[in-house]
Amino acid sequence: MRIKRFGAVASTAVLGALMVVMGNAPASGTQSTLRAAADTAGVKIGSAVSGKRLDPAAGEDAYRQWAGAELSSVTTENDAKWKYIEPGQGSFYWDDTDRVVEFAEANDQEVRGHTLVWHSDLPDWVGQLSGTALRDALQHHVTSIVGHYRGRVDAWDVVNEPLNDNGGLRTGAGQNGFWGDQLSASYIADAFSWAHAADPQAKLYLNEYGIEADSAKARGLYNLVRDLLDRGVPIHGIGFQTHKLETTRLSGLADVMRRFTALGLEVAITELDVRVPLPVDAAKLERQANVYGWATEACLAVPRCVSVTTWGFTDEHSWIPSQYPKWGAATLLDERYAPKPAYQRVLQLLSLGRPAAGPVAAWRLDEASGDVAADATSSSPQHLAKADAGVLGNESRAPYLKAFKGNGVNAGAKTCEDPAGRSCGSAIRTDVSYTITAWINPASSTADQVIATQRGVYRQAFTLGQRSGRYYFTIPTTDSPSGIDQTLVSTAAVAAGQWTHLAVVWNNGWSHAQLFLNGVRDSGSALWNNGADSWASTGQFLSERAPRDADSPGPSATCGCTSGWHRMPRSRRWPRRP
Ligand code: XIL
Repeated sequence: MRIKRFGAVASTAVLGALMVVMGNAPASGTQSTLRAAADTAGVKIGSAVSGKRLDPAAGEDAYRQWAGAELSSVTTENDAKWKYIEPGQGSFYWDDTDRVVEFAEANDQEVRGHTLVWHSDLPDWVGQLSGTALRDALQHHVTSIVGHYRGRVDAWDVVNEPLNDNGGLRTGAGQNGFWGDQLSASYIADAFSWAHAADPQAKLYLNEYGIEADSAKARGLYNLVRDLLDRGVPIHGIGFQTHKLETTRLSGLADVMRRFTALGLEVAITELDVRVPLPVDAAKLERQANVYGWATEACLAVPRCVSVTTWGFTDEHSWIPSQYPKWGAATLLDERYAPKPAYQRVLQLLSLGRPAAGPVAAWRLDEASGDVAADATSSSPQHLAKADAGVLGNESRAPYLKAFKGNGVNAGAKTCEDPAGRSCGSAIRTDVSYTITAWINPASSTADQVIATQRGVYRQAFTLGQRSGRYYFTIPTTDSPSGIDQTLVSTAAVAAGQWTHLAVVWNNGWSHAQLFLNGVRDSGSALWNNGADSWASTGQFLSERAPRDADSPGPSATCGCTSGWHRMPRSRRWPRRP
């Protein structure tokens, strides 16, 4: 979850002490290539590539140029698989893999080698071996290849897809259990040890699919890897393949990644693609962009997630149509290399960089005097100032010195009021998951009041408030007059005259909100699954105060809606003070 923080609030009488908003800093500029954006974010952006297509003689100029310009990492899609690289026992074919490595060196890219041990794409001769002969052949295979590219391949998928869907070792023909049947689980530790001996600098990965959320398979892998580490096996990373559908709700990926990084491992997204049922339409591509976005966001949110690699980058060359008939369009570019919405999404998210590790704004409310609460975080401060009749005043409750006193309607606090004009804008990035917390002390249990809100162009990106004796949290489906409010209403009643700690957790992957009162989930309150996601907003953040005409034009006279706001020329929005 991304985090930003906001300080204080109140309701009609006295009010809140510290308010915290967890989210992400609002987006700054978008870079011009994925690679430039990924560099800023401190992550690699990669794709599976083909050595034959990278050959200048192949005439695939667009392919070569795009890969050189946009990627900072390349993975051998098929060239280093066993049946291509060692088609006959002891006889190796290096040319195609060499070409990938040379291309990467010419373009200053990282190389990920895929893959040393897998049940698929084995040459027939391997299937005829067993026992010691098979083990020896495996050792020779691993040692020869890793040794051949020693110092030139940064990371190897040493073992690919070793587990069945229950999280156990693949065994039995029905599970493609060739390696487990022949050599038991020992082949895994052996392969890592041999690879490490052949190139001690290379990062050694176990690569798997279907582990992108908490599941029996993810847990089985966790147990396997923890055991390998306990035994001193040189394993350095976990690859999350991430082959998904456009309807996938990719939630929980960052959490699973963190479980592995807590073991001291790095992680990477290694084979990302998002297939759609053909024919393609705009809505499918939009959903696809979401899934690409969630994957990218997950990697950025996990400090030791080192790269996002897609499995191909143009729909002209993707494994999906041949593997999944009637499906396709799974990559970032269409067949003519035109960027799809998913490309723009990934570019935007990478440009934004990794989220702040802690809150990105915090209002301590400990100023000795004045009406402005300074943001205690340093990166891009968002100061909060009293609005109209709001008061930043003393409040006796220790340890907080002050609180904003407002009335939830036209008095409270807002951003964009820093006298020094240092910052003006939104406090929270709203197109991702975020948390808002506030201490409040409502004067009335029945009043209709805003506790916190942030504006988009036409609508508020969210509103947390109280109405008819209940707390509510609303997100309109779109930032337009026709956006439909999605609302959570608390089962618990508003408690007047009491300090209450309020927290709303918005999970964008699930379009799902939860409310916590004094740390306990308001379990009966409505939440919505499979609703619309939240959207980006760059407007002012307000606390204890509904947006007013003075802040932005009022509701449209013609739109017929009650809560819409007119677009205003950019130059006139939130002018900075001299
Ligand atoms: C796929 C390739 O993209 C295809 O070209 C090939 O025909 C089959 O393999 N998981 C993996 C990859 O680890 O090696 C697979 O690549 C896709 C699924």
